[in-house]
Amino acid sequence: MVLGAGASGGLSSYDDLPDGLVVADEVCTVVVFNSAAARITGVDADFAVGKRLEDVLPLEGLDGRAWWPCVRPYDGLRTVNGHPERNLLLPGGPEILVTARYVRDEPRGPVRRVVVGLRDTRHRAREELSRAELVSTVAHELRSPLTSVKGFTATLLAKWDRFTDEQKRLMLETVNADADRVTRLITELLDISRIDSGRLTIRRQVVDIGRVAHRHVAGMVAGGHAEARFEVSVVEGIPEMWVDADKLDQVVANLLENAVHHGDGTVRIVVEPDGDGAAVTVTDEGEGIAQHLQDRVFTRFWRSGRRGGTGLGLYIVRGLVEAHGGRIEVGNAPGGGARFRFVLPAATPDFAD
Ligand SMILES: Nc1ncnc2c1ncn2[C@@H]1O[C@H](COP(=O)(O)OP(=O)(O)O)[C@@H](O)[C@H]1O
Ligand SMILES: [Mg+2]
Repeated sequence: MVLGAGASGGLSSYDDLPDGLVVADEVCTVVVFNSAAARITGVDADFAVGKRLEDVLPLEGLDGRAWWPCVRPYDGLRTVNGHPERNLLLPGGPEILVTARYVRDEPRGPVRRVVVGLRDTRHRAREELSRAELVSTVAHELRSPLTSVKGFTATLLAKWDRFTDEQKRLMLETVNADADRVTRLITELLDISRIDSGRLTIRRQVVDIGRVAHRHVAGMVAGGHAEARFEVSVVEGIPEMWVDADKLDQVVANLLENAVHHGDGTVRIVVEPDGDGAAVTVTDEGEGIAQHLQDRVFTRFWRSGRRGGTGLGLYIVRGLVEAHGGRIEVGNAPGGGARFRFVLPAATPDFAD
């Protein structure tokens, strides 16, 4: 590698590299800092060149400890010639994938250059993390209902005559509910895979969102919830809304279920015009969601509290709303409960597919 004047940070072919490249000379002074490195670190290339490597690239391990003092390229073990890919952090910044090579003129000789590759992993890290999470969480979620199904059916088969009809009914009801749980989880997972792979199709038709709200409340009441717990108001002036009826049902059902299940008190639903579309606000009078947790509720598998379910509901809700070109936000109701509000554009039949 030739390190001419043209290579030092300014315009050079290093800038064509998709990955960040940082090179320090034998006294730890940065001589190359390409434009991808500048983008990833947020440090200006002209500023970086001429500075000390550990000052412009103060990498930290995931445990928060400074990395360069640990690996000591210049005065550490002379048998070490670099590091394979590692996940490291910039202080307060993103996680990045770092590779390093220590260039020596001869084996065990002094380090002439330290060549560092940087790769932005924000996207990749998130995906890998959630894939690993997905597998372990799914396995766990499936196992607990199946354990109960297996336990009750095995017991019933082995000791059928010893149970009263009432006891048998109770066990079968539990088995039935657990089978429902598994089915529901699988449906949610299929939704998630459609959302994540962009395969969600929106079939638009004219939908009266106010009526949808009333219908869902009637469903909750039929399902055994007190009618007095719900309040629906529909504000005049909502335009003709072209949305996917099934997906809107899913969104409303999820928000209502959450309000009843995680919240408390009266659940209020307001449907009103908003911009060129309509907004639906669902509030309850429960404990609400702490400010610092509000960003997380839409994360898949995020749940909290003793009543947490799979933690997939709101992730799906947001995916469905966004697939319509809409948006959803969470906040606190004036009375302290949770407040979810989503806005959908009116759209037109042209959007129908
Ligand atoms: N209305 C609400 N009031 C309080 N907490 C809520 C409310 N809605 C959602 N949450 C919180 O957000 C978490 C994620 O919700 P969700 O994705 O629907 O998962 P799940 O309902 O399966 O737990 C819940 O576990 C709960 O802690
Ligand atoms: Mg839920």
